[in-house]
Amino acid sequence: MILSIQHLNKSFPKEDGSNMIAIEDFNLDVEEGEFVCILGPSGCGKTTLLRIIAGLETPTYGALLLNGAPTLKPGSDRGMVFQEFALFPWRSVRRNIEFGLEIKKTPPKEKRLISDRYIDLVGLRGFEDYLPNQLSGGMKQRVGIARALANEPAILLMDEPFGALDAQTRNLMQKELLRIWSETKKTVIFITHSVDEAVFLADRIVVMTTRPGSVGQIYNIKWERPRDRANPEFAALRKQILTQLEDNVRVDG
Ligand SMILES: Nc1ncnc2c1ncn2[C@@H]1O[C@H](COP(=O)(O)OP(=O)(O)OP(=O)(O)O)[C@@H](O)[C@H]1O
Ligand SMILES: [Mg+2]
Repeated sequence: MILSIQHLNKSFPKEDGSNMIAIEDFNLDVEEGEFVCILGPSGCGKTTLLRIIAGLETPTYGALLLNGAPTLKPGSDRGMVFQEFALFPWRSVRRNIEFGLEIKKTPPKEKRLISDRYIDLVGLRGFEDYLPNQLSGGMKQRVGIARALANEPAILLMDEPFGALDAQTRNLMQKELLRIWSETKKTVIFITHSVDEAVFLADRIVVMTTRPGSVGQIYNIKWERPRDRANPEFAALRKQILTQLEDNVRVDG
C-alpha cells in the first residue's frame, strides 16, 4: 500500500466565526500502481482532498501515510497536474518540463536527459522550443503531465486534467495517459466529473458523497484495457454510477 488516508477531516473557517466542514471522515487505501478515479458532486471536497494529499493544504484532523510514514508537506514523491494547465507562459515546453529539476538543482546534462525522456514519452518531440500560447489544449496538458513526471513522483495527482478539452482530444488524452501509466507504472489519483472517463480509466472508482465529502461507494473494475465504450457492460456500469451520483445529490436535498 503506497497511500493510506485515515479519518481525514478538513474544515474552513467562515466569516461568521463558525466552521464549514468540507471533508468528514474520509478513509481510503491506495495500492502501488493503482489507477484510482474520484467522482463526486461539485463542492464535495475533491480538489481539497487532492491538495491535502499533495501537501498543499493541511488536514484539520486525520492522517495521511505515504509508504507508512505520516506526511504533511509537499514532496517530489507526489506530482500534481492541474485542470487549468498552470504552465509558465514565458517558458518554453522544455523549460516548463525542467522547472522542478531546476528547483532541485539537477546538473544540466542530467536535466536535459530527463526532459528529453519525458518530451518523447508525452509525444512533444519537435515542440521543445514552443511557448505555451503556441500549443493546443491537448499539447498544453501533455506539458503539464511531463512536468509532473519529470520529478519522478511515485504518485501522480490529477485534478480534472482533461476537463477543458474537446471530446475528441479528451478521448485521445485518456488513451495517452493509459499508455504513459502502463509504461511508467505510476500510482494515479485522478479526479473527474465524467463517469464515462472514470469507467474508461480506473481500476477503482470512488464516488464521494455531497459536502461534507466522504467515501460513498467504491467500484472495482477489473476489465482489461483498452476498454470498449460500445460494450453493454461499459454502458451498464456508467448508468449505475450516474444514478448513484444523482441519488447522492438528491439525498442531500
Ligand atoms: N481555501 C478555502 N477557504 C475556504 N473554503 C474553501 C477553500 N477551499 C475550498 N473551500 C470550500 O470547500 C468546499 C470544497 O471545495 P473543493 O474545491 O474541494 O470542491 P470540489 O469537489 O473540487 O468541487 P468542483 O467539482 O466544483 O471542483 C467548497 O464548499 C469550497 O467553497
Ligand atoms: Mg475541484
